[in-house]
Amino acid sequence: MPGVTDRVVIVTGAGGGLGREYALLLAREGAQVVVNDLGGARDGSGSGHSMADAVVEEIKAAGGTAVANYDSVATVEGAQSLIQTALDSFGAVHGVVNNAGILRDTSFGKMTPEAFEAVQRVHLFGSFNVTHAAWGHFREQGFGRIVMITSTSGLYGNFGQANYGAAKLGLVGMMNTLAIEGRKYDIKVNAVAPIAATRMTADIASAEFLEKLPPAQVAPIVGYLVSEDNQDSGMTFVVGGGAVHRVQLFANKPVLFSAVPTLDEVRENWSRITDMSDAQPGVNPAG
Ligand code: NAI
Repeated sequence: MPGVTDRVVIVTGAGGGLGREYALLLAREGAQVVVNDLGGARDGSGSGHSMADAVVEEIKAAGGTAVANYDSVATVEGAQSLIQTALDSFGAVHGVVNNAGILRDTSFGKMTPEAFEAVQRVHLFGSFNVTHAAWGHFREQGFGRIVMITSTSGLYGNFGQANYGAAKLGLVGMMNTLAIEGRKYDIKVNAVAPIAATRMTADIASAEFLEKLPPAQVAPIVGYLVSEDNQDSGMTFVVGGGAVHRVQLFANKPVLFSAVPTLDEVRENWSRITDMSDAQPGVNPAG
C-alpha cells in the first residue's frame, strides 16, 4: 500500500483542533509531518511555540516523525520558510494540508475592512502562499497532493461569517483551477469542509451536539486525499460526525432566447430559469 508512508506532508495550523488530528493520523500512517502553527488565539492574535511543540512531542512519543514550524502562513516569507523547514528536515515536500485559520465573526453591517482582510490573509492568502511555495517542487518531482480546508459557511453561507465564507469559497475556486493546472504533473487538489468540535465551534452549538463531532473523524478523509492512493482531483467533501458527503455545483438546462430578452420576457420565464429539477453537474462553458 503506497499510502503516505515516508511522504513529507505539511499540515498548517496543526497545533490544535482538526489540524492536530490530521498530523497525528498522518504520522501514525508513516508520513514525515511538518507541524506548523503560529500558536495564537482563535481570532489570530498572539503567537507562541507551545502548540506546535506539544503535537510534535505527541507524535514522537508514539514513535512517529515530525518537526515543528511556527511561521505565519499569512505572509509569503512565512510560507517560504515553512517549505524550507520541510526541505531542511526531510529533503522533500509531497503534500500540503491548508488548515490554518482564524475567525472574526460579526454581522455584515458591523464588519470592519480589517476584520474582512484579516480572515482573507490567513485562509485565502495563507493557502495561496503555502501552495505556491510548494508548487514548483511538486511540478519538478511530478507528484503533489493538496487539501484545501473549506467550510459549509462558504459553500452555503452562515450568519456573521461573510469574511470567512468569502475566503473559504475562494479556496474552492483556487482548487478548481489548480486541479486543471496540476493534471499533467500528478498534482491532485481537493477540498474538505470539516464539521467538528474544536475551539472554533466551542460556542456555536450545544455541548450535547458537539459531543457527536470528534475532530478525529475528519482525519482519515484528509489522510486519504494526501496519499498516493488518491487519484481524484477537484472534488469537495463535507466531513463530520461519521458522515462524508461529496458536494458539487449543478446547472439546469439553459433557457434560450433567440434575441436579447425584454424584462417582461425574463419575468415570464423566471420559474423556468430558476427550476433545478433537470440539473446536471455544471461544466465551464468556456473551458
Ligand atoms: P483551531 O482554531 O483549533 O485551528 C486553527 C489553527 O490554525 C490554530 O491552531 C491556530 O493557531 C492556527 N493558525 C491561525 N492562524 C495561523 C497562521 N497565520 N499561521 C499558522 N497557523 C495559524 O480550529 P479548527 O476548528 O481546528 O479549524 C481548522 C480549520 O478547519 C480551519 O481552517 C477552519 O476554518 C476549518 N473549519 C473548521 C470547522 C469546524 O467545525 N471546526 C468547520 C469548517 C471549517
